Amino acid sequence: MTWLLTGGAGYIGGHVLAALCADGRSVAVLDDMSSGVRARVPESMPLVQASVLDTNAVRAALREHEVTGVVHLAARKSVGESVERPLYYYRENVGGMQSLLEAMLAEGVGELVFSSSAAVYGMPDVNEVTEDTPTEPINPYGETKLAGERLLRAVGDASGLRWVALRYFNVAGASDSALSDTLAANLIPLVLRALDEGRAPQIFGDGYPTPDGSCIRDYIHVADLADAHVAAARALADGTTAAVYNVGRGEGFSVKQVLAAVREVTGIHIEPEIVAPRPGDPARLVASAAAIERDLGFTASRDLHEIVDSAWRAWTARR
Ligand code: WQD
Repeated sequence: MTWLLTGGAGYIGGHVLAALCADGRSVAVLDDMSSGVRARVPESMPLVQASVLDTNAVRAALREHEVTGVVHLAARKSVGESVERPLYYYRENVGGMQSLLEAMLAEGVGELVFSSSAAVYGMPDVNEVTEDTPTEPINPYGETKLAGERLLRAVGDASGLRWVALRYFNVAGASDSALSDTLAANLIPLVLRALDEGRAPQIFGDGYPTPDGSCIRDYIHVADLADAHVAAARALADGTTAAVYNVGRGEGFSVKQVLAAVREVTGIHIEPEIVAPRPGDPARLVASAAAIERDLGFTASRDLHEIVDSAWRAWTARR
């Protein structure tokens, strides 16, 4: 009863690994280490260094570790890069999923939890996004996540493979400095880095139709997100066949509110710089978290303050 965790040496992967282990599960990690960090995987844990695109290596890992289920996180995740390198994103993310599924079917492994994204929704004009909100991704990254879900559904229907796809909203925070987000590509780590370097954090536009004019997002603590994977694995054991869930808190915070939380946590007051809006940013993107709560009994318990506080503690511990 071992789970194979692809992308387990990543920022989210390291937290999912810890959550699966805390739930008493046996886990083996598969990671190509292109952006993975060795220290995120405990020495005692099996770590297979291979790409999910290497079907034979995945098959060998499934056999060697007697894997019964897979949590699939390994993927490229930069929206901007996906616009510049769409073929690369389709190969890595969609080709990676195809290769993994081929390996799973060949080795008779029938359960998969897939890391999808709120990017599948694009720019929905709704107050709360439900899983039935139309999926209209506006960049290749979101397209590859949606294609992954569709491939999963088709393979599941044809083969009986059972799966849960989790559409992550804005993930941030850290439960340990060794697991922190080293890429600093998203709002909270970018702001912390700016403060640390004595620069003004940037707000990408404050003329949006929101109460304070800045964009609203649904921020979820990475440790809560990790627990959602455990809930999904349990659901598969309980007989779930095919399901898609948003993973957010169902609560929106604007960029200015996030900056206020950062000021409160760090005690550092720096006036932000308002810069031009970023193309493709929806004014508001907030999950309905009702379905995963109803079906899996999962709710994210950590609030924005805890998210920012944990990110700041991890950041300062690493410098
Ligand atoms: C958050 C808000 C920015 C930086 C991205 C992907 C999405 C998903 C999560 C993976 C936005 C604003 C940001 C800055 C700012 N990824 N901002 N100043 O774009 O909501 O979501 O990560 O699945 O697919 O698109 O996250 O952290 O980039 O931005 O004002 O320096 O902060 O405009 O409103 P985003 P983000």
